[in-house]
Amino acid sequence: MTDLGVATPTVAGAGDKPAAATGKSLSVVALRKTYGQMVAVEDASMEIAAGEFVTFLGSSGSGKTTTLMMIAGFVEPDSGTITVGGRDVTRLDPQKRNLGFVFQQYLLFPHMTVAENIAFPLQLRGVPKDEIRRRVFETLDLVGLSGFGNRKPRQLSGGQQQRVALCRALVYRPPVILMDEPLGALDKKLRDQLQTEIKNIQRELGLTVIYVTHDQEEALVLSDRIAVMRDGRIDQLGTPRELFERPRTPFVADFLGAANFLSGRVEHHTDEHTLVRLDTGGLLRARQHALAKGARVSVAVQPGRLDVCAPADAFCSGTVQSVTYVGTLVRVVVNAGANCSVRLEVSARSAPEVGGQVGITADPDNINLFAVESDG
Ligand SMILES: Nc1ncnc2c1ncn2[C@@H]1O[C@H](COP(=O)(O)OP(=O)(O)OP(=O)(O)O)[C@@H](O)[C@H]1O
Ligand SMILES: [Mg+2]
Repeated sequence: MTDLGVATPTVAGAGDKPAAATGKSLSVVALRKTYGQMVAVEDASMEIAAGEFVTFLGSSGSGKTTTLMMIAGFVEPDSGTITVGGRDVTRLDPQKRNLGFVFQQYLLFPHMTVAENIAFPLQLRGVPKDEIRRRVFETLDLVGLSGFGNRKPRQLSGGQQQRVALCRALVYRPPVILMDEPLGALDKKLRDQLQTEIKNIQRELGLTVIYVTHDQEEALVLSDRIAVMRDGRIDQLGTPRELFERPRTPFVADFLGAANFLSGRVEHHTDEHTLVRLDTGGLLRARQHALAKGARVSVAVQPGRLDVCAPADAFCSGTVQSVTYVGTLVRVVVNAGANCSVRLEVSARSAPEVGGQVGITADPDNINLFAVESDG
């Protein structure tokens, strides 16, 4: 159990505001980093507002850590600029950027107590002793670890150690906190709990956080906006809703929404819709899209945005292959012919029978079309 939701001690009290709450922000323009021939990060640009929680999400090797490390100052970019609160910090040493870090490995000093670990960044900054004691106490309280100050890190669980690492980043109230998979080493239950705590603290203190994860769910739970990274580039930066509803690339549609992809060809445009003739034969209505008549397209639609219907009303139909209950939802797989299976997620109440014939329909507004480059 955590009492963080209610425990709002004086860390963000009057006159003690984190710099984040003063309206400063972070901006990154055209960052690039290569290692020999390997382009690790290319053209990464973003504006992050004060108090915003932004997550870099992408698979392994997509450039998340490299981008974060350039912002932190531990990796030097080949080109591009980084501005924190209006100040160009691109060539500044990490400790002069005044950013907080929390890494996957807690990196606590093993010979120091918890309190000494948290006090360390304040000592470096020459904060008076009494002030240090007060802030350490408050910050421990904030993460539910009051009374743990005299323990050594090895006397703590993994989750507790990660809380201490979080304290160490919070204690000097940096305007921006950078976190690289901070919960990666923890089990699922603890991860869920700490996600909630991090989010609560971030909201209460108005912190600006840049967070790295390859876990979609974690990104969705925590973030105001998500930068989906692929091969060193940001495919799309947007709110979770924008990424779900208006994915800019098939990769984003798949990575976040586990979309179905159906192939077809643009047959006709109306004032409101684009009509696509699917390879499976049916005609599908999608929202208006600037694709030429005759263009080959890939139709992306998320399983949760599809419904079963009578075959006569459907854009495609087929035989129900499997029905799996996941709580109040069921996952349905329909064999739509032409080597095409479609995954749906529907309410358990409208679950079809395995082996039955069903039609599939969707609101045109929930369908995204992507041009297919080579006409195969
Ligand atoms: N110091 C380095 N020298 C050479 N190549 C590097 C170095 N650091 C990173 N890379 C390469 O840059 C690319 C991006 O790496 P990065 O660590 O940013 O990925 P990531 O998205 O954080 O992945 P992960 O989810 O596995 O942590 C990878 O292909 C990696 O091999
Ligand atoms: Mg990484």
